[in-house]
Amino acid sequence: MKKTYFPEEFTEKYSKLLGKEWEEYFATIKRKQPKSIWVNTNKTTIEETVSSIEKQGIKLTPLKFHEQAFMIECERPGSLKEFEEGKISLQEKAAMLPVVALNPTKNDCVLDCCSAPGMKTIQLSNLSRRVFATELSSTRFESLHFNKKKYSLKNVELKRTDFRNVKEKFDKMVLDVPCSSEGLVRKKRDALKGWSQKLVERKAKNQKEMILKGFDRLEENGEMAYSTCSFALEENEEVVNFLLSERNAEVLKIDLKGLKIRKNKLCVGAVRLFPQDNDTQPFFFAKLKKRK
Ligand SMILES: C[S@@+](CC[C@H](N)C(=O)[O-])C[C@H]1O[C@@H](n2cnc3c(N)ncnc32)[C@H](O)[C@@H]1O
Repeated sequence: MKKTYFPEEFTEKYSKLLGKEWEEYFATIKRKQPKSIWVNTNKTTIEETVSSIEKQGIKLTPLKFHEQAFMIECERPGSLKEFEEGKISLQEKAAMLPVVALNPTKNDCVLDCCSAPGMKTIQLSNLSRRVFATELSSTRFESLHFNKKKYSLKNVELKRTDFRNVKEKFDKMVLDVPCSSEGLVRKKRDALKGWSQKLVERKAKNQKEMILKGFDRLEENGEMAYSTCSFALEENEEVVNFLLSERNAEVLKIDLKGLKIRKNKLCVGAVRLFPQDNDTQPFFFAKLKKRK
């Protein structure tokens, strides 16, 4: 089997930062991540799809944080007919959490700022009244367009644009920013090929600009889920703390069932998911509220 690639600069940085935790962290990110699915209630019911998958002898385990989320024990879930038919999407469990924490309802109009390929857009479509999904890259926009049809996202309007051009204001928002993608290493063995501290700093600068622009598109008392699949403080706590210093924002407490969530002293309320705690990718998210 191909070995996972780790740049020296990366192992040096995180072994220092994590100290005693490093060994377990490193051992976990070298292991393949378990597979999980989200049931797309635009096309099916939870009961119908769970039963049709289980009839094929495949084990599903409910994830306590949301009734539509399941672990799946199947080598190639992408070959299931339920996937072909758009009844399930394949989404890593940590990546589901920003939308679950945001907890949109059928009264909410939500902006999905950086949306392709649309895995969070599917969740938002299931849970909200209306979704406006923007995507800058034309090739990635094509995959979003494909998924809109496949998953029957009828309450979702797509636009290929920089979300910073949007003039409308929203009740809720997902800002799943482009990041150094450290978290993808459990899925793609060469995910860290282009990683460097310089890349992290470049991404962080962009993220600080994005979080302010996104926040300004929220209605008063509106809420945003900010997320990255990076473990870097620069792209996470430092970005949220920058927003707190520039705007009247509050970090809301997040309570999710069935997950080990540690206290975050660097940014109270924000969630830094250590991969070894819940067998996820390294991940970060925070739920932010716009105060008057
Ligand atoms: C982390 S990925 C999003 C993944 C997506 N939320 C999902 O769950 O499937 C970030 C995306 O943001 C897009 N992007 C980057 N800058 C953007 C901008 N200014 N406006 C809109 N989209 C942007 C990238 O092309 C990329 O597709």
